[in-house]
Amino acid sequence: ALSAADAGLLAQSWAPVFANSAANGDSFLVALFTQFPESANFFNDFKGKSLADIQASPKLRDVSSRIFARLNEFVSNAADAGKMGSMLQQFATEHAGFGVGSAQFQNVRSMFPGFVASLSAPAGDAAWNSLFGLIISALQSAGK
Ligand code: HEM
Repeated sequence: ALSAADAGLLAQSWAPVFANSAANGDSFLVALFTQFPESANFFNDFKGKSLADIQASPKLRDVSSRIFARLNEFVSNAADAGKMGSMLQQFATEHAGFGVGSAQFQNVRSMFPGFVASLSAPAGDAAWNSLFGLIISALQSAGK
């Protein structure tokens, strides 16, 4: 889990992003697929599609809203070691089952502070780095 201080910084950085979660969730996925185009191929709905087609797809919102809802749970429970332990394990098992591993989340970790900054939300780079570090470790423990 994160320290209470880092969890607080995360909550401050996340609040304005999640306040407009539909549009910002879409922007997050588009930013990820722009910087790491191969990421899109993990999703059945996006595999082999151009970025323009993905942006026009009604599936974009379905996928981005699931991601943002789960990120919100991680941020809300970031300092709770018990909840984080079970959430991380479930998350890693689920994503490993989709063929997604630590490399994909190293990509997310590298672009997330820039994404937050692009929305003029408060920075929390070290805290985001720690949160995605927990996810990366959980995936590595799951063998991915
Ligand atoms: C599915 C969350 C990043 C690939 C899901 C689901 C959630 C989720 C909640 C739905 C699980 C279900 O309903 O069974 C997240 C969060 C992420 C993240 C919080 C943090 C940024 C990624 C990344 C990739 C990825 C970086 C791949 C590059 C997938 C795939 C599925 C999935 C392939 C299966 C369903 C589908 O094809 O839409 N994710 N995810 N996720 N995720 Fe992630």
